[in-house]
Amino acid sequence: MRRSLVAGNWKMHGSGAKITGLLQALVQALGDEQEGAEVVVCPPAPYLPLCQLLLQGSAIALGAQNVHAQASGAFTGDVSAAMLAEFGVRYVIAGHSERRRYAGDTDAEVAQKCEAAILAGIAPIVCVGESLEERESGQAETVVARQLSAVLEHCDSESLGQLVVAYEPVWAIGTGRTATPEQAQAMHAFIRHVVQERSAWLAESVRILYGGSVTAENAAQLFAQQDIDGGLVGGASLKPEEFISICKSVGR
Ligand code: PGA
Repeated sequence: MRRSLVAGNWKMHGSGAKITGLLQALVQALGDEQEGAEVVVCPPAPYLPLCQLLLQGSAIALGAQNVHAQASGAFTGDVSAAMLAEFGVRYVIAGHSERRRYAGDTDAEVAQKCEAAILAGIAPIVCVGESLEERESGQAETVVARQLSAVLEHCDSESLGQLVVAYEPVWAIGTGRTATPEQAQAMHAFIRHVVQERSAWLAESVRILYGGSVTAENAAQLFAQQDIDGGLVGGASLKPEEFISICKSVGR
């Protein structure tokens, strides 16, 4: 049985004061929650120690938005998986479309980042998803399969048990244009099928999240789909009431 997961991707938003207020509200509403979905928040890196402190003793897990593939070295501005682990980070987003687009993260680099995270005991949330052009030209499945296979082929079977996949159609991110539950379910089933070709056991256990304009209004319908195991939430995760309601709309 897969436990649902809802992750808030705060992107490059917030300040010490804003993040403190937001987390206090989340901890109060969701901090004891052992029954519902697993909840994760992914703040900008400088706020990880603050969030670690605020989350102490709560059921909410800490995530990061990016990681470098190497263990250490001359990589100015980057952060390793072991460093993240020191601050209690349990999840890390890898290959978000914004990083693929603005920072040039390639499929191969994303796979290496996933491997580095797993080695440090951090579960990667690998993001896959097609652009509008790719969807309209019938390439959606090809693109998603390529992005996912890079990770599945690079990591060994045992470590893949930690993997979480997030299907985030690029055309739905921050646009207010959500995939319909049917569109999302179809792609999630396809993703599970791609994973199945690597390992039947993994296909059953891997959690596949939907991301892209998830709101309190559309979350329940999306999460009710058979192969949707939760969400990766951007904009709505910065609004405490809305995020709490999204987390509560998914069962365990
Ligand atoms: P959004 O972002 O919910 O604001 O569309 C999702 C994401 O980028 O992870």
